[in-house]
Amino acid sequence: MHWPPRLQLANLPTPLQRLDRFSRRFDGVDIWVKHDELTGLEVSGNKIRKLEFTIAQALEEGCDTLITCGGVQSNHCRATAILGARLGLKVHLLLRGESPDVSDGNLLLDRLAGAEVTYVPVKEWSSHPQLAEQLQEYYRAAGSRAFFIPVGASDAIGLWGYVAASQELQRDLQQHNLDPDYIVVATGSGGTQAGLIAGRALFGIDAEIKAFNVSDDAAYFQHKVSADLALWRDRYQVDLDTAELPIHTVEGYLGPGYGQADADVFVTIAELARLEGLFLDPVYTGKAFHGMVSELLKAEQGLNSALPAARSVVFIHTGGLFGLFPQKQGFGF
Ligand SMILES: Cc1ncc(COP(=O)(O)O)c(C=O)c1O
Repeated sequence: MHWPPRLQLANLPTPLQRLDRFSRRFDGVDIWVKHDELTGLEVSGNKIRKLEFTIAQALEEGCDTLITCGGVQSNHCRATAILGARLGLKVHLLLRGESPDVSDGNLLLDRLAGAEVTYVPVKEWSSHPQLAEQLQEYYRAAGSRAFFIPVGASDAIGLWGYVAASQELQRDLQQHNLDPDYIVVATGSGGTQAGLIAGRALFGIDAEIKAFNVSDDAAYFQHKVSADLALWRDRYQVDLDTAELPIHTVEGYLGPGYGQADADVFVTIAELARLEGLFLDPVYTGKAFHGMVSELLKAEQGLNSALPAARSVVFIHTGGLFGLFPQKQGFGF
């Protein structure tokens, strides 16, 4: 396989560890965590793995500016803003929504890292790709060259991030002599899920990839992930029949909507923090972890479950800690 250009930005490999105390809640299921929240401190989580490939491509194309987009509390935008500062690239963010009165969480870091921010009202968000094109044109006219990174860096380039992560995980599994039944992850823009699905096939991992959606629905991810896999295969001429790869998106844990969690998600986050000193966020990892626990408990009770007959499960902790702070009211503190 021919790997594309890649920068070394993340602290890798991340540890794979068993949650000894939390696993005792279950009758014979071990929960393991792949600590991708430790890929860095300010630039942490799953996004940095994708951006190693995405920004390498931008540099190959001679770009000096990165344009990307997402929610006001986007982890991806924060990672891009900080990496831009580290690499001497200008970063322009298109953020969905209105400018808040106070910059908290990820937005605070975006601004400290010097990213330029343009807010796009929610009702106009569907036209953000055109807005990005106009911005690219604006930078071109000013003598710069701007590279556009789509939401979450979830495209054919960013997909490599979790292909590479799968190779790392395969080595971890060998080292721990572990053959898990499932690999669980949150899915938001689909790139982590798509990379894991491709990586599982390329590196011969037996465990099924179960992605818990934190936005949209299973039909959306079926379409998005299969489209990105096909684009990736064609662009890099990968010898893999991507249309045959199974896509398992587990619904039921989105709650009121993207970025809004039910009270029981906050309870699970607090419980894990107390038992293991491990922190999740209510937008991504908290929902997926809560969904995983709920499905494992259903299986124990003999109910229909997306994770039946599990003996060990690997949860990919994709980061997102800064998204916890703007939602502190959910814990009642
Ligand atoms: C902390 C965190 N976890 C999971 C995800 C989901 O990853 P993806 O966008 O690749 O589906 C994201 C980003 O959307 C994220 O910021």
